[in-house]
Amino acid sequence: MRILVIGSGGREHTICWSLKKSDKVKELFCAPGNAGIAQIAECVPIAVSQFDELTRFAKEASIDLVFVGPDDPLADGIVDAFEAAGVPAFGPNKLAAEIEGSKIFMKNLLKKYDIPTAKYETFTDYESASAYLSEQSTPIVIKADGLAAGKGVTVAYSMEEAETALREAMIDKVFGEAGNQIVIEEFLEGQEMSILAFVDGETVKPMVPAQDHKPIFDGDKGPNTGGMGTYTPLPHIDQAIIDESIANIIIPTAKAMVSEGRPFRGVLFAGLMITKDGPKTIEFNARMGDPETQVVLPRLKTDLVDIVLAAMNGRLGELDIEWSDDAAVCVVAASEGYPGSYPKGRVITGIADAEAQGALVFHAGTAMKDGAFVTNGGRVLGIVGRGRDIAEARARAYEAVSVIQFEGKQNRSDIAAKALR
Ligand code: AMP
Ligand code: GLY
Repeated sequence: MRILVIGSGGREHTICWSLKKSDKVKELFCAPGNAGIAQIAECVPIAVSQFDELTRFAKEASIDLVFVGPDDPLADGIVDAFEAAGVPAFGPNKLAAEIEGSKIFMKNLLKKYDIPTAKYETFTDYESASAYLSEQSTPIVIKADGLAAGKGVTVAYSMEEAETALREAMIDKVFGEAGNQIVIEEFLEGQEMSILAFVDGETVKPMVPAQDHKPIFDGDKGPNTGGMGTYTPLPHIDQAIIDESIANIIIPTAKAMVSEGRPFRGVLFAGLMITKDGPKTIEFNARMGDPETQVVLPRLKTDLVDIVLAAMNGRLGELDIEWSDDAAVCVVAASEGYPGSYPKGRVITGIADAEAQGALVFHAGTAMKDGAFVTNGGRVLGIVGRGRDIAEARARAYEAVSVIQFEGKQNRSDIAAKALR
């Protein structure tokens, strides 16, 4: 088969790496890709937003299957565009991707079908939002309705912070259109967990669970990022809680989407909080997580192409998906200044040495310059260690992190520490 992956981050490098292991894949393309992806796939310089160029390329190159990585093109209907051009694409169509594209759609869906989530109210005008807010207590959570590159959520610990977040979203429009409507919701306390699942209408095949670390600094301090590190499995979380999350949240949500006439086909990603009243939904994403993918796919034993084809043909229920029982830890190496502005073009050394030690090095923001890898983004690399348990995987990940250098490299030193306690 000839497969085209859409995207350019660490998630897409991992998807390419996983697809590449399949003997069904004869040729692999990635648009636009990055310097790491270019080592295993042919990169095509077309942006993820250029649907006409992408579909034209897919037809000219006789692509048999497209795998879409990121959220923005899904929300804008990239799967519909490929389907209209007669090219099979794995991912939700525009209607189904709204589960991530609109927080209000997602919250109303969960309320209608009685699926556990934080209590909330939605607002379209600043005055009523502000009046409602003044009657609440802190901590409280303010969310822009639309996609805001992962920055549309404020967990406010003081009323002042909450008011600022509201003003920025609704009056200053710092998230543009995404802030035209907002959600004010109850603060949930507990451990977070990500469960991704392959979904084909009502059929749900969960992946192994993972935990992300969103804030930039150790101890979950500082501003939120796209994700600074992940690990799987979660030895400190009971299997019963994981099973409960799948049974009470993910499966009912897939069914609800079918009932709403928006059957979901692709990867559904539930961001969950394990509260004292059980697991509750924080968010749904309509795609794989980044950097969750970097630890989850290395544990996949079944051929990823078989899974995608089964989902595309409505046969996901017939497939037994197998996972290894080892552990994986991903530490993100980021540019100095991230998640604010950061320099580019700094030479990266030690990748081959880290790989020789057995680490997986997935490129997120890299480019090739004069024969060397250089930094080209905020999150630069996802460095993955694997082992029999979290302690071993974590030690190997950090060993590899210490071998890889670039000026201004920053990484958290406490990824997966929670799982050791
Ligand atoms: P999101 O962009 O929706 O993933 O939210 C970013 C982060 O904000 C989440 O990973 C949580 O840590 C936090 N968060 C979002 N909603 C809530 C909530 N209702 N209660 C507590 N924390 C939340
Ligand atoms: N790591 C969180 C996300 O992909 O949304």
